[in-house]
Amino acid sequence: MKIETDFLVIGSGIAGLSYALKVAETGRVLIVTKGEMHEGNTEYAQGGICCVTYPPDTFEKHIHDTIVCGAGLCDPVAVETVVTRAPEAIRELVQWGVKFDKTAGGKYDLAREGGHSENRILHHKDYTGAEIERALIRRVKRHPNIEVLEHHFAVDLITQHHLGELVTKQSRDITCYGAYVLNLKTSSIVRILSKITVLSTGGVGNIYHTTTNPPVATGDGIAMVHRAKGVTENMEFIQFHPTSLYNPGERPSFLISEALRGFGAILKLSDGREFMHKYHPMGSLAPRDIVARSIDHELKTRGEDFVYLDVTARRPEDIIAHFPHIYEKCLGIGIDITKEMIPVVPAAHYCCGGVKVDYNGESSIGRLYALGETSSTGLHGANRLASNSLIEAAVYAGLAAAHSSPRIASITLCSGIPDWNDEGTTSPEEMVLITQNYREMQQIMSNYVGIVRSDLRLDRAMRRLEIIFQETEELYLKSTLNQNLCELRNMITVGYLIIKQAQQLKQSIGLHYSLDYPLINAVEM
Ligand code: FAD
Ligand code: SIN
Repeated sequence: MKIETDFLVIGSGIAGLSYALKVAETGRVLIVTKGEMHEGNTEYAQGGICCVTYPPDTFEKHIHDTIVCGAGLCDPVAVETVVTRAPEAIRELVQWGVKFDKTAGGKYDLAREGGHSENRILHHKDYTGAEIERALIRRVKRHPNIEVLEHHFAVDLITQHHLGELVTKQSRDITCYGAYVLNLKTSSIVRILSKITVLSTGGVGNIYHTTTNPPVATGDGIAMVHRAKGVTENMEFIQFHPTSLYNPGERPSFLISEALRGFGAILKLSDGREFMHKYHPMGSLAPRDIVARSIDHELKTRGEDFVYLDVTARRPEDIIAHFPHIYEKCLGIGIDITKEMIPVVPAAHYCCGGVKVDYNGESSIGRLYALGETSSTGLHGANRLASNSLIEAAVYAGLAAAHSSPRIASITLCSGIPDWNDEGTTSPEEMVLITQNYREMQQIMSNYVGIVRSDLRLDRAMRRLEIIFQETEELYLKSTLNQNLCELRNMITVGYLIIKQAQQLKQSIGLHYSLDYPLINAVEM
């Protein structure tokens, strides 16, 4: 089966939906998404979305906080672009129907999170992402120029390679003509030809054992670009959120928002002592990499499984009004957070790197844009400032839309792209190999490529991953496509990129902390 469209958008989080709404005025848009529309990291976002809104906050302060948090590795142009365009992006979200909380006086109720010098986070209670998804999905469904295919899994990008040309990492002018997409209901492959393709496939959290990310976050877009010989960067900077609820067996791990610390919650040890001031002057509100590493250190030296977050100093009615979702969730497992401390552990949360893009969101592959968590715009550097990702996705969706819309008039769809070739493949009988390799991959990444790394750990991880890479490739080549196998293959590729890029960085900086290199404190606070 073949489908033709002007814009192919892969993924239906804030990045993909915002872009679709913007370009739908100029052409036909097809969104494919592998689950139901709302499934993705956006739906889970709690704390909120950053934007300089009122004095005494200024763009300069937001820029400074972002660069300090990113340990000086941020691209200053990307930072300035996102920070200064944020108010316009927020106005647009509001116009699309997103509701952010206001105070009794009618002003936006701004929260604070780790690394921020001012209150600048707009939010909807403690489920901001779900509110954004609700409003955007509603708007997209009503748009006559946008079609959505749920349960459609993008497998590979179509490039010159599929016309029989040799494409290597050194090739210039690689062009994307669309994507091969697996219809998960019929198990058939659809060939989608597009003038512009947008990857907005979200994060990679599932390569780790403990993650806040939902099951769809398997790094598919990043792996597809790597296979198509496109450029990825900064993959070593995987952010672990310091405070996910310690509730063994629950996957994904439930997030205890950093906004709770912005609201006054304090990190404590099992004996009730505060410990973060030992590590950083901002205490419990230090940047995330420092808090996660400090917790990891305390847990390892004390032989304990979790630390505590204590918000009981605040009035119960205020806690419940601001954090109803977290309150209900904890109550559901027997913890009343207005009276008791919350057990928390770090969990893999966010991928700061990804598909390298320019200031228009375009990747190294022509006619292919990457947006949101899949992309690496340079905003985050070595560590993302809390609540900077939703706004990055919204701003870059606008930039990519403005850049790509005028192009479609002069682009013709590519002809001669063959159907997907599945000759000689059969259904994989060895499902056990897929589930076993999935577990092994998570173990390798969690044990050796987590919060604390070393040359030895990275080398060992690479050697072990190589074995399951070979096994999975063999299985892939002889199997008809299925989602689990494709996701496993993608996650192994992402794991490989993280390890390789971590091995190349011969220093400890931001989220990449190696026992073999001293920590660089690149920026004055
Ligand atoms: P997503 O929202 O993850 O969407 C990705 C989409 O791609 C999904 O629809 C998925 O199904 C689809 N997809 C993936 N692979 C394929 C494929 N092969 N084929 C077809 N479709 C595919 N950031 C903030 O700024 N503020 C916060 O408060 C905040 N809180 C967070 C809390 C949690 C628990 C988590 C997990 C993240 C949080 N983040 C927060 C990070 C932020 O939510 C994400 O970075 C952001 O939502 C990513 O948006 P996105 O559109 O790039 O991807
Ligand atoms: C949170 O609410 O703590 C998550 C914020 C983020 O990841 O940006």
